[in-house]
Amino acid sequence: MAGLTDSAFRRLVKRHGACGHVVSEMVSSEALVRGLGRSLEYLAFTEEERPVSIQIFGGDPARMAEAARLVEARGADGVDVNMGCPVPKIARHSAGCGLMREPAHAAAIVSAMARAVAIPVTVKMRAGWSAREVNAPEIARRVADAGAAAVTVHGRTAEQAYRGQADWDLVARVAQAVSIPVFGSGDLMDAQQIVDRLRTTPVAGVLVGRGILHNPWLIAQAADELAGRPARVVAAGDRRRFLLEYIDLLAAEASGAYRPDVHDRWVVNKLRALCGYYTKGFEGGPRLRAAVNQAPSVAALRALIEEFFGAPAA
Ligand SMILES: Cc1cc2nc3c(=O)[nH]c(=O)nc-3n(C[C@H](O)[C@H](O)[C@H](O)COP(=O)(O)O)c2cc1C
Repeated sequence: MAGLTDSAFRRLVKRHGACGHVVSEMVSSEALVRGLGRSLEYLAFTEEERPVSIQIFGGDPARMAEAARLVEARGADGVDVNMGCPVPKIARHSAGCGLMREPAHAAAIVSAMARAVAIPVTVKMRAGWSAREVNAPEIARRVADAGAAAVTVHGRTAEQAYRGQADWDLVARVAQAVSIPVFGSGDLMDAQQIVDRLRTTPVAGVLVGRGILHNPWLIAQAADELAGRPARVVAAGDRRRFLLEYIDLLAAEASGAYRPDVHDRWVVNKLRALCGYYTKGFEGGPRLRAAVNQAPSVAALRALIEEFFGAPAA
């Protein structure tokens, strides 16, 4: 999830019991091919995260194929094409969800990628561009014919962004339209919803987005329920430990030449973004979020988290 998840977060979620395939935040194919900025860092993952796909976006078939080769060379288990991003600066340029308005072009991109690499090429899409342009079944058929190994459908249109509710009937229609695996996405905020969607929709699996930012144990809890066990209980101490471990992992990534002025800011910004979701609905959450936003250092950040979730007994 762009701006929110990263390798450290994915590692931790797995350490805390999540199973399944993880996908990186989206990265520009153009930036990857040209080696621009920090784009190559997005290709980094650890063995703990596997199976892992790297998601790329772009509108040029040759560039997307070249970026897919880079992803494959890094050893990822799959490469995912973003056809869901609604942000105009991406969607306007025949990329992200903009590709859903150009079915032949979308298929050409997948075809070029599938010919370029041996790892599975998968596609993440929305319901369509707008309520008048709901075409996920057609796009799924096109990309499946072009060589996609699986698709994930977030049942909202680009115009909806995150408003309204995800259309799981549409997800089911896509699953019935193609023979490749279809995964459903949208509004899976608790373990029971995950179990219900898996049981009532003909999907191969589900993708969890915002829910995992609020509750990193969500997938583990759903797996418990699917296995007929009571869902594990998450205590304040678990939530405290998760954030502190996340800070440690982030700080370790910067450890080569740790510069408090640069890296503390970076870690604080990461936690700022996460805490908006992580503490939503918790009493005192807005107060913690405001304090985190002002935290001058990682040490101050740690103290705030320990105070909020209760420091461990000495
Ligand atoms: C802040 C944010 C960043 C996201 N970044 C990505 C992304 O990089 N790639 C992607 O395919 N989907 C991205 N999504 C969409 C999610 O993968 C998911 O499809 C959507 O949020 C609906 O599922 P949810 O209700 O479980 O969050 C993002 C969503 C949010 C809220």
